[in-house]
Amino acid sequence: MLAGALIKNYLDFFRSKQHAVLPSGSLIPENDPTVLFTTAGMHPLVPFLLGQPHPSGRRLCNVQKCIRTGDIEGVGDEVHLTFFEMLGNWSLGDYFKKDAIEWSWEFLTKWLKIPKERIAVSVFAGDNDAPRDEEAASIWKSLGVPVERIAYLPKGDNWWGPAGKTGPCGPDTEMFFYKGKVVPAKFDSNDKNWVEIWNDVFMQFNKTDAGLVSLSKPNVDTGMGVERTCALLQNKSSVYETELFVPIIEAIRGLSSKQDVRAERIISDHLRAAVFILADDTGIIPSNEEQGYVLRRLIRRAIRYGRNLGLNDFCHVIGSVVIIEYSSRYPELKKNELRILAELQKEESLFRQKLEDGMRMFEKVASKNIAGEDAFLLFQSHGFPLEMTVELAKERGFSVDVVGFQECFKKHQELSRLGSEQKFASGLADHAERTIRMHTATHLLHAALRKFLGIDVRQKGSNITQERLRFDFSFPRKMTQDEIKKVEKQVNDWIQTKTPVAREEMSLADARKSGAVAFFDEKYDENKVSVYDIPAISREVCTGPHVKNTVDVGHFRILKEEAVSAGVRRIKAGVE
Ligand code: ALA
Repeated sequence: MLAGALIKNYLDFFRSKQHAVLPSGSLIPENDPTVLFTTAGMHPLVPFLLGQPHPSGRRLCNVQKCIRTGDIEGVGDEVHLTFFEMLGNWSLGDYFKKDAIEWSWEFLTKWLKIPKERIAVSVFAGDNDAPRDEEAASIWKSLGVPVERIAYLPKGDNWWGPAGKTGPCGPDTEMFFYKGKVVPAKFDSNDKNWVEIWNDVFMQFNKTDAGLVSLSKPNVDTGMGVERTCALLQNKSSVYETELFVPIIEAIRGLSSKQDVRAERIISDHLRAAVFILADDTGIIPSNEEQGYVLRRLIRRAIRYGRNLGLNDFCHVIGSVVIIEYSSRYPELKKNELRILAELQKEESLFRQKLEDGMRMFEKVASKNIAGEDAFLLFQSHGFPLEMTVELAKERGFSVDVVGFQECFKKHQELSRLGSEQKFASGLADHAERTIRMHTATHLLHAALRKFLGIDVRQKGSNITQERLRFDFSFPRKMTQDEIKKVEKQVNDWIQTKTPVAREEMSLADARKSGAVAFFDEKYDENKVSVYDIPAISREVCTGPHVKNTVDVGHFRILKEEAVSAGVRRIKAGVE
């Protein structure tokens, strides 16, 4: 079964079970403080998994663009990917274990026609936090799964989330497919031929700083990787042999006279991910910060492996193949094609000018463990991301003094946020009260900018961490000090009006008619959106969450106003 058919079947199946099909959310979590990228279908749904009503109802499903850069160095083998698509279905306090498991089974065996003999499952073995999941096991048994195909595994295997320090989580049950020839009677989770295909998470808890708190209504959150499932259904030993990658790999081969399977996989994976990041309407471009830094690493790593294949000026060529292959399902690729290809070309020429000199310097210093200053020089003068130097050194059996690198780095007061990977690893942040306050502050800021700079100001992106909010907007020039002061004062004045913040539900068209601003159209379910109304101040289509009253925002302060790109300005601000 091809990927397109798998996705269609999945969504049709859950539609037949009364699920609303949501569009894929952005790859860049808009209001999620500690994740750089959407890593699972549940990320855009966190407020709803924590209890806020979802405008599309209590049964949802979609195919979600995801990026996981945690083991970027693992890419090159048969299964690792940085970008992937995840199918998921959700119950927001609606159905629970019985329906979730029965539907998973029905879809796998009837719709995908996977032979029952090839399926095994695991359930949670139980500990102090939650009991042994006999309920899930007995549902599997009632469907005919033999006991020797049901493994009880501990938290390390059968508990999902929170993605970061805090957030929704719970025990899960996983489904495995046996890809070897002769299927053993007993399921052994250490046997690599049993490949995980689907995960049903029973989200019963919210992990907070104080510990696990039961959610008032338990949810179901499931995830099935498209690429991996396609490879299994097509009897291919690797995701790279499916139609999702073959055209990309063929294009690489067409440009090179050498063949190196690992390099081809790395290039195709990384450039596919880079195209999707660049395609996002938030307008991420390669940089030394946050998502831009990950994007830069992906492109530069692809270029470095392209060098092994003798490839030059190739990123945009491969990028356009990705665009052709994926545009029908992700129109943003076609829409932003020129920008995507231009950025790929720009980043490649920027790095290529330095790559050969950098490699020469690397050869010089790489006869022993690499000092922090040398790694920093490679970074500073030759654009080698630290991780690339570490990886190159490792290939020769050497290490890099990463602490020394960071010290040099701090001294030079560069890259405030190299910790992007740590930040990624820490995953979902607590949707702490402070974050919610900044979320509402963002709406007030937006309204104040439109009041003082004109209604042509359009939101281009927004991102909130524990420390600050960041708001990008279209405006042709630097703001004056006077304008900044006025905007700041206006926000604080509005906060002091003690106006209640109300949420209303309506169709996107009605929301627009009612005067609500909505700039990220493609992310909404057109039939039902939430409008957050701060009467006489702001009215925006948004998923929330927000404070109940403007006074809860606290004192607002603009920290910085700067350029992002031509015609786009950025404000960083905080609440106290
Ligand atoms: N959120 C769950 C996962 O990523 C379904 O596996």
